[in-house]
Amino acid sequence: MPLTLTRPDLIRSANFIAGQWSDAPAAPAPRLAVTDPATGALITEVPDSGALEARAALDAAHAAFAAWRKVPAKQRAAIIKRWNDLVIAHQDDLGALISLEQGKPLAEGKGEVAYAASYIEWFGEEATRMNGEVIPAPLPGRRMFALKEPVGVVAAITPWNFPAAMIARKIAPALAAGCTVVCKPAEDTPLTSLALVLLAHEAGVPAGVLNIVTASREKTPELVDVWLQDARVRKITFTGSTPVGKHLARRSADTLKKLSLELGGNAPFIVFDDADIDAAVDGFMAAKFRNGGQTCVCPNRVFVQRGVFDAFAHKLAARVAALQVGPASDPASQIGPMINARAVEKIERHVQDAVAKGAKVLVGGKRLAELGPHYYAPTVLTGADARMACACEETFGPVAPLTVFDDEAEVLAAANDTPFGLAAYFYSQDVRRIWRVADALETGIVGINEGALAAEAAPFGGVKESGYGREGSTHGLDDYLHTKYVCQGQLD
Ligand code: SIN
Repeated sequence: MPLTLTRPDLIRSANFIAGQWSDAPAAPAPRLAVTDPATGALITEVPDSGALEARAALDAAHAAFAAWRKVPAKQRAAIIKRWNDLVIAHQDDLGALISLEQGKPLAEGKGEVAYAASYIEWFGEEATRMNGEVIPAPLPGRRMFALKEPVGVVAAITPWNFPAAMIARKIAPALAAGCTVVCKPAEDTPLTSLALVLLAHEAGVPAGVLNIVTASREKTPELVDVWLQDARVRKITFTGSTPVGKHLARRSADTLKKLSLELGGNAPFIVFDDADIDAAVDGFMAAKFRNGGQTCVCPNRVFVQRGVFDAFAHKLAARVAALQVGPASDPASQIGPMINARAVEKIERHVQDAVAKGAKVLVGGKRLAELGPHYYAPTVLTGADARMACACEETFGPVAPLTVFDDEAEVLAAANDTPFGLAAYFYSQDVRRIWRVADALETGIVGINEGALAAEAAPFGGVKESGYGREGSTHGLDDYLHTKYVCQGQLD
């Protein structure tokens, strides 16, 4: 079944700056090919933008800020609500577009649209609740207030693994807060972002409030540098790798921008002897194989206590062996292609390294070249240990390396033995252990007997080198606001 859109004009091939679909201002404009990761076929080309386009987008966002911040919150909320309605109305088309450029199965693509819309709806509602405080004054004749204000122009740099959801949970709170936005979507998946911006424009987001420029990996540093250096950008929000996050933090220091950094993870998934093993397998399948294992929060290291190791490994192997791998266009597919050649090479390197160091392949462990260049078989390894690359680096693919452990203290030390701290999961039915372990895990997110954690009302983000700032929930709105203290005297 080919992935087609009922509204083909949702596929845009230009930047959106100051309310106009503009090709690169400088001619002849360099172009960036967007391809289907399942086949390598060209979908379309978008501008390969640089400093010129970055500056034009920033000028537009800066010019629009003064008016947008003054639009009453209720009106901003109504515009965001209309955007949400349009996203839902185009769920099938947007889902197909996500699947086409990112490769996730169509059901997951449509699911991501609903997930993205949940953030848009949530932040639209929150726009009307950005209450400040009236503070009891310690001296007579004074009134003291803490007012919430938008930080200003926000630069959003978004990843390829959730091309709709990640842009939604950055841009919706920015618009709700009264900020204006310049956005650079991931080079592999710019089309979903451009379609979302088109719908935002149709929903009534005024010209200049939301600007988007596309660029290749090679041109991105030139483009983003303009935003990093310019004091008019007051916040950077980024989802991606830890090295890039650190670079953005360093380069933002000169103008002291506010930062939200959602960076790499290395999530442990722990199964204790007292766990419900079937529930643990279900939770693991949901957490690990969503988007083919290409999520920051997916379990990267699996620790199973000795007493249940064989049962867990056996049940898991059966479930993983049954996963259907294939293109997004096949409704039976549960795991699609990986995003690009580098992604498959990394997965292959991790599995080969683990096997060379003593791990055993229980299921998978190889490329599926017969399906296409970017497919890797869902894999279960046993005998994984801390020396292996798959224990130290994010594999970002459908690989489950299992390690046996004996006691709680040992597994907590192993789980926390990483510079990363995004998500952790564990399964246990002992209520004392549950709170002990939840307290001891050094991560921003903990799943207890639950593998599917993300929700618009929950604060998503990490600690340690997984970054700072939160997305979703009221915390995710606060990150786009600053607090102004206002004191009025002479009132007696
Ligand atoms: C991510 O992988 O970056 C986000 C995953 C999520 O929203 O659950």
